[in-house]
Amino acid sequence: MAAKRVCSSALRLSGAGAARKSTGARSSRSFSTQHANWTTALQAKHTTSTTILPRIQATHPQRRFSTTPTPQHGHLDPPKPGEELKITFLDQTSQPHTFTVSAGDNLLDIAQANDLEMEGACGGSCACSTCHVIVEDEAYYEKMDEPDDDENDMLDLAFGLTETSRLGCQVKMTRGLDGVVVRLPSVTRNLQASDFKEK
Ligand code: FES
Repeated sequence: MAAKRVCSSALRLSGAGAARKSTGARSSRSFSTQHANWTTALQAKHTTSTTILPRIQATHPQRRFSTTPTPQHGHLDPPKPGEELKITFLDQTSQPHTFTVSAGDNLLDIAQANDLEMEGACGGSCACSTCHVIVEDEAYYEKMDEPDDDENDMLDLAFGLTETSRLGCQVKMTRGLDGVVVRLPSVTRNLQASDFKEK
């Protein structure tokens, strides 16, 4: 009797095993179907890339790089019609150089945009005195905004300091400064604020 029960259990087990076997067969079939699908998809992708690439190469024989111009120090936009302002720089040999500029342009940018010798060692951050200019006419000097403490500190380091000395990077053109004349000193002293920090 017990043997019969074992036997029927074995039968039940073999039935379950068969079912599992049949499930395994199904999953192995579905795997091979999936595999076939992937292969087809990959082949399609490969075919697409091999057919598209020559077309791209034909229409774009050489790959081109484009760059966006970045504004650099000394870059100035031309003034709008009717808003032109004049400024004259006297160079180290007293030669005048007159330019038409816009309100808001600072003297360092104007000088550098026009290849005048103004070093601007600190990049216009009021930390050197290499953009020193001397305003020729005191009346124009009075029309400028007052120099702040930082500018006064840097001006103290400037070679050949005068009563109407300014740092070019700190002076912006305004309508009131139309016609101003500034002189470039014959020598500048390339000292920066960092030279005076404790090391
Ligand atoms: S560029 Fe350095 S202070 Fe003007």
